[in-house]
Amino acid sequence: MKRTAGKSASEVILVGDRDLAKVLSRALHVDTEVSRWTHGFHTWPAGLHPDAAQILVRAFPGDSLLDPFNGGGTVLVEGIAAGRRVHGRDISPVALRIAKARSCVAEEVLLTKFRSRSRKLVAAAQEASARPHDGIYGVVSSWYAPHVVHELESLRVGIESSDADIRPLLEVCFSSILVKVSWRKSDTSNRREKHHRPPGTAAILFHKKCRELARRITALREDVPEGTPSADVRSCDARKVTVPESVDLVLTSPPYPSTYDYLPMQHLRSVWLGDTRPDHLEIGARRDWRDGAGSARNGWLADTFHWQKACADALKSGGHLVVVIGDGLSPAGAIDTAKPTEDAAIAAGLKPKARASVAREDHGRGTQRWEHVLVYEKP
Ligand SMILES: C[S@@+](CC[C@H](N)C(=O)[O-])C[C@H]1O[C@@H](n2cnc3c(N)ncnc32)[C@H](O)[C@@H]1O
Repeated sequence: MKRTAGKSASEVILVGDRDLAKVLSRALHVDTEVSRWTHGFHTWPAGLHPDAAQILVRAFPGDSLLDPFNGGGTVLVEGIAAGRRVHGRDISPVALRIAKARSCVAEEVLLTKFRSRSRKLVAAAQEASARPHDGIYGVVSSWYAPHVVHELESLRVGIESSDADIRPLLEVCFSSILVKVSWRKSDTSNRREKHHRPPGTAAILFHKKCRELARRITALREDVPEGTPSADVRSCDARKVTVPESVDLVLTSPPYPSTYDYLPMQHLRSVWLGDTRPDHLEIGARRDWRDGAGSARNGWLADTFHWQKACADALKSGGHLVVVIGDGLSPAGAIDTAKPTEDAAIAAGLKPKARASVAREDHGRGTQRWEHVLVYEKP
C-alpha cells in the first residue's frame, strides 16, 4: 500500500479465495507510522508500507523471495527479517544504494569502523572551503547556500576515499541529507524554498544519520534469524529479471502508470554521487504520458507483460506472484491497472488466486482511485 496521506479508504472489493482476499485487504488498510529496523531511514517515493509488506511476506511462507522493483527496499527488509534469502532488483542507482544499506546484516566490527570514519569526515567538513569540480558545481550551486556546498563537497571527497567495505553505508547517509539541506522543497517536488542552515548543519546532520543507520542495522541484525544473509541487491531491468535460484515468492509494487518520474526525480543525488541514470529503462514514467497517452499506455501494457513473464520464469512451480499496484492518473483521467495486470499475468502463464481492491478518496484532486493487491500462482 502506498502511503496516501489525506486520502481515506472507502469501498473494498474482494475476489477469488475469500480468506486470502481478506488478508490482502488487511495489507491495504495499514496506516500506522513504523520505524522498526531500517524502515523510514531514507525517503523513497511511494514506498510500500512496512506492515503491508510484513503481512504479505507472512501470508506466503517459504525460503526465498524476489522484489524486481525494490525501490527503497521495504520488502527486502521484511524478507530477511523473516529469515528468507532475498533478491532485490531496480534500475535506479539511488534506490539500489538505499535498499542495499537497509537490508544488510553488517557485523558490529564493520559498524564501529563506519562510525569512526564518519566522525573523521564530519570534523573535516566543518573546516571545508573547497568547491566541487564544474560538473557538480554547475548543477548544485543554485540549490544550496555556498557554505553547504563546501561541507557536502568535503563529505563527498572523504567518502570517495573511504574503504570499500564502509563506503556504501557512508554514501547512503550522504544521500539521505542531500535534499534536506538543499532549497528543494522535497523529493517529489522541485519547488525552490530558500532557508538558512547555519554553518556546520550539513556535517552534523550527516553524522546523526550515520549513527542512526548503525543503530538501526544493529536492531535489524539482532532480529534476523541466525544464518540469514544480507539481501542480494543488483541493478537489473525488471523486464529481463534474473535470479541465481528459483524463488517461492515474488512480492513487488511496480511503478503506478503516469504517477512519478522516479529516475529524474533523483537528479541532485545522481549528480553528487556520480551516478549514470538509465532513464530510458523506466517503466510507467509520468513523462511518457506527456508525450502521448495512446503510445504510453501501449508501452506500459507491453512492459507489464514482460516483467510479469520474467517473474513467472523466476518462480518455482507452486510459487506466488503478489503485485501491489494503484490506478494511475493521467491528464485524461484515471488509468485502471487491475485488469491489464491480470490479463498480462494470465498471458505470462500464471493462475489468478485472489485480489483485494480498495477505493481511496483523493480529496486533493476531488476524485477516487483504486489500489489493488493481486495474487497469482505458478502452476
Ligand atoms: C513503486 S516503486 C517501488 C517501491 C518499493 N516497493 C518500496 O517500498 O520502496 C517502483 C520502483 O520501480 C523502479 N523501476 C522503474 N522502472 C524499472 C525497471 N524497468 N526495472 C526495474 N525497476 C524499475 C523505480 O526505480 C522504483 O524504485
